[in-house]
Amino acid sequence: MFKEIQNTYYTHSTNFDFKMLCVLLHEEKYTLAIEKIKTLILEIDLETLLFDQYNYTRNIIINNKSYWLGLLNWDKGAITRIHGHPDRAFIYVIKGQLICKDFDKNPLTKISSSTLVDGTCKYSNSVKGKMDNDIHQISATELSLSLHFYSDNPIKGEIFDF
Ligand SMILES: [Fe+2]
Repeated sequence: MFKEIQNTYYTHSTNFDFKMLCVLLHEEKYTLAIEKIKTLILEIDLETLLFDQYNYTRNIIINNKSYWLGLLNWDKGAITRIHGHPDRAFIYVIKGQLICKDFDKNPLTKISSSTLVDGTCKYSNSVKGKMDNDIHQISATELSLSLHFYSDNPIKGEIFDF
């Protein structure tokens, strides 16, 4: 039912300081971070991004012990599993439109839904060491691109829709 998500390493054409962006996001300096992201957006060559029909792909920028930063490239109709996150999670929609459904667990219940259009972001700072924070499911209503920052690799996020 859910297709495997393809991952690739993203290579950027300028000397944009991705580490600095991670530090700003980790320190929750979101206004400054968003200014940097707006500069970055102008430099991204969409043609270089991995794309998968009916699905989304992860174009990884940084994946180390401290941070995970990447670009998610969404086909229209692409949808994630219902999943949790490490303590820090940040999404910025670069283009398109994503629907984010938020869930409570025990029992798994949808609590809200929000629409994220280009230029909007969503972030959370929850329980360190847990991978069941900020449980949600994201879907793309059109071709979309988003930047994601996490304090750990998002593939470790707990899955809830078995
Ligand atoms: Fe997520």
